[in-house]
Amino acid sequence: MTGILTVVEAAAADATELAAVAAVTFPLACPPSVTASDVADFLATVLSADRFAEYVAAPDRVVLEAVGADGIVGYAMLVDGVVDDPDVRAAVAATPTVELSKLYVLPDHHGEGASHLLMAAALERARARGAASVWLGVNQENVRAQRFYTKQGFARIGTKRFRVGDQLHHDFVLERRF
Ligand SMILES: CC(C)(COP(=O)(O)OP(=O)(O)OC[C@H]1O[C@@H](n2cnc3c(N)ncnc32)[C@H](O)[C@@H]1OP(=O)(O)O)[C@@H](O)C(=O)NCCC(=O)NCCS
Repeated sequence: MTGILTVVEAAAADATELAAVAAVTFPLACPPSVTASDVADFLATVLSADRFAEYVAAPDRVVLEAVGADGIVGYAMLVDGVVDDPDVRAAVAATPTVELSKLYVLPDHHGEGASHLLMAAALERARARGAASVWLGVNQENVRAQRFYTKQGFARIGTKRFRVGDQLHHDFVLERRF
């Protein structure tokens, strides 16, 4: 299926479709302890169509989408720099850096290479922005994603807190240096 997929930068008109993909894929990255209402709240506040429209327009972000015959099957988002988090600042030494904020693929398209195309495009964009490294946070229970990132050259460099609703999760921080 990889042959019919292309990865392009998202446009404002794609915001609604990106939010629909996020609504399916974000729960897959959460541990079972995250409640449905916390997921719904996160989707409404962080991954809504309005927020995606903001992300697409933001000069310090790049939103990439993998598009197949039936539309968007996955997306990734880059954010320049390090979040305002002392744990991440302490862990990420290779600067300037870019955060791979999200890389999510619809479950029907896992294992088909969409994730690899998105990662290749994300790393290319990060390099083009002058980054010396890319960092990301991944839930400690998300073994599939960790395996994917490890195979893509990322190494664990620390942990960070990630809030979903009332729960504070301790994500692994991974980094890939160029
Ligand atoms: C993370 C993600 C982008 C990876 O894409 P993918 O197409 O699934 O990636 P791949 O199939 O190439 O790699 C996943 C690896 O995990 C393995 N795997 C599959 N299911 C697994 C499981 N339940 N537990 C552990 N490993 C698993 C696969 O076999 C593969 O390893 P291999 O290459 O050695 O065979 C995709 O799974 C996804 O979108 N997941 C849901 C959202 C998510 O968690 N995003 C990351 C947020 S940080």
